Amino acid sequence: MPHALSATLPPLRAVSTLNTAERRARNDDKRAQVARDFRSDTVTVPTKEMLALMQEASLGDDVFGEDPDTIELERTVAALAGKEAGLFCASGTMTNQLAIRTHLVQPPHSVVTDSRAHVHCSEAGGIAYHGQAQPHTVFARNGHHMSVEEVLDECVVEEDVHVAMTRLVCVENTLSGMIFPQDELVRLRRAVDDFSIPLHCDGARLWDVSAKTGLPLAELCEPFHSVSLCLSKGIGAPVGSVLVGPTAFIAKARWFRKSFGGGMRQSGPLALAASHALSTVFPRLTAVHALATRLAHGLVERGVALDLPVETGMVWIDTEPAGFSVSELQSRAWEKKGVRIGAPRGRLVLHYQIEEHAVEDLLEVVGELAEERREEAKQWEERVGRDRVDEVRRRSRLYAEGKWEGRIEGPKRSLPAYGRRG
Ligand SMILES: Cc1ncc(COP(=O)(O)O)c(C=O)c1O
Repeated sequence: MPHALSATLPPLRAVSTLNTAERRARNDDKRAQVARDFRSDTVTVPTKEMLALMQEASLGDDVFGEDPDTIELERTVAALAGKEAGLFCASGTMTNQLAIRTHLVQPPHSVVTDSRAHVHCSEAGGIAYHGQAQPHTVFARNGHHMSVEEVLDECVVEEDVHVAMTRLVCVENTLSGMIFPQDELVRLRRAVDDFSIPLHCDGARLWDVSAKTGLPLAELCEPFHSVSLCLSKGIGAPVGSVLVGPTAFIAKARWFRKSFGGGMRQSGPLALAASHALSTVFPRLTAVHALATRLAHGLVERGVALDLPVETGMVWIDTEPAGFSVSELQSRAWEKKGVRIGAPRGRLVLHYQIEEHAVEDLLEVVGELAEERREEAKQWEERVGRDRVDEVRRRSRLYAEGKWEGRIEGPKRSLPAYGRRG
């Protein structure tokens, strides 16, 4: 006897109604789109090889601590990072917020971080919600990274009933594709040690730092008590992030992960996919950075300005000097070449599944638009004046080389209310 409700429900048109050929065609189509998608490095999709491997993954229960492929991934990432233990989680937001929650004990307390940091701007208020902490934000004067002195200025280190003592400092590396200088991080660790304040790293793209600088991951992680290492961004896993740190810290974070609803049960296929991505994609990041540099030079040659130095795989553009908007570029690139970019924020992100031809196609569209909008570009030059034009062009050439000097102006801050102060 069917349940009474089933009589009133429309028939389900589930994915399984597609046949194998249709499903394959859909995935081939998706792979072709991803090869031309510059919106983020999170858009990468599992390869056929990865999907085949996932079928062979272990089938244990991760909450019971019984899944071999998950345990192996956690151990591998922890060993690479030079830390005692690792915890595989669903997302980078979860590994960051678990770390923050685990470091903190008893409010009132504060967490010091960069005003542009993901943990502050883009984790749905997690520092306040999960950690019950007040964020103290640093507005990096050089526009690149926080100095030790700026961090210390925001740390509350003396007991005073009016304020919340600082119990954690969070660093993001890379931040908007920019690399935090390692010697500064070593200095920062020494400075916070004086006040027994732990240091956490949102290392969603720390892999890129290792690929670019040639420094081993363990050395990059050395100044930190805990590090969040995303696998679903540049590394190309479908899902996941690993939090690494001391054994006791990770054991406590595992406890909090359960209360966050993040116990994953049969996580083997995801863990094995992530391990596969790690061993096959990590070595390819250098080529991704080279492609980003090529794109950056091509953009500057066509009159587009760069907002930030291209140090890894991100290219931040300002199209105004070329006479058009990022939104116009977005529609034209999509309509003419099937190339996707984000707008209105001018962020282009390279990843290992971007095909070289997509870079050429994007540059062709930029060149075409710049040609059409010469009048608008001239008006921009008249409006801002010769000195500013020269400065923007000089700075953009420098940024395309991955270099910078003085103070970096852009891009606009992620939290609009903070933009006015910057
Ligand atoms: C720097 C940084 N940290 C953390 C995250 C969070 O990762 P997830 O999207 O897996 O939650 C992101 C996501 O884009 C990020 O860019």
